[in-house]
Amino acid sequence: MNKVTIRVPATTANLGPGFDAFGVALSLYTDVTFEETEYGLEITGCDEAYTGPDNLAYVSYCAVMATMCEEVRGVKIHIDAQIPICRGLGSSAALLVAGAMGANVLHGSKLSTQGLLNITNAMEGHPDNLAPAFYGGLTASMVDNGLPVTVNFPLHPDWEFLALVPDFDLPTSKARAVLPEQVSREAAIYNISHGAMVLKALELGNEKLLRNAMQDRLHQKYRRKLIPDYEAIEALVRTCGAAFCLSGAGPTLLCITQDENLQEKLAKKLDTVTQANWAMIPLHVEFQGARVIKSE
Ligand code: HSE
Repeated sequence: MNKVTIRVPATTANLGPGFDAFGVALSLYTDVTFEETEYGLEITGCDEAYTGPDNLAYVSYCAVMATMCEEVRGVKIHIDAQIPICRGLGSSAALLVAGAMGANVLHGSKLSTQGLLNITNAMEGHPDNLAPAFYGGLTASMVDNGLPVTVNFPLHPDWEFLALVPDFDLPTSKARAVLPEQVSREAAIYNISHGAMVLKALELGNEKLLRNAMQDRLHQKYRRKLIPDYEAIEALVRTCGAAFCLSGAGPTLLCITQDENLQEKLAKKLDTVTQANWAMIPLHVEFQGARVIKSE
């Protein structure tokens, strides 16, 4: 085998209070094909700006090859991305996961998924998108002695996710730069207690509990200023009864509900309360993580 295509799901991180810890895999995908060649790097399917050696799929591919003591001669990478870039739906994590898995599969799958998560977490700096991208479903992760530890949590089958994706991007680095270095004990307690409730509400399918629990004191109040329309959309979603949070570092805003008519209800009013253009993407949980969809 010298050619493989890896499919990686989109992910939403944090879920409100689970900053850098919680994540869910969603039904939107980036497919990346890796073909080993004799010499050079060729990257297609993406903007010219991402075709150099700093492409995350290539960086991750090389890191895994180095760990396996394999030489990178040449590689052709083709990216077919449904996951929007720099929108808070795990587009960077998807490329890191694809590159890691692509290298591993092409060289006899010597590393475990945990091994690939360790390598990619060292590059991304937090495991909350990477973990659900590798394992699927709802995950919570911690980093202990520099290494990520992840567990899957059960999810009630009736949840639907609605992503509100604006026509502007927000690099994660910018959204992290506005966060304070120090937080109060009160904020820490608020997030620990609300985070525990979020996991239970998602398991039970308890929408009222989720709505109350999915609030945060560590990041959203600082980031909302970077996102025009945040307050207006939050107010609208809350009137419709859905749980609401920032997806990852944003700017995508996320609604979680069991109401099949939420999209229709929001569509009637969204344009009247917003200034940017917001696309609504209905999604469900993807229980399968990254996988090989083609090999030759
Ligand atoms: N936990 C990360 C953040 C997710 O909120 O900055 C984005 O990569």
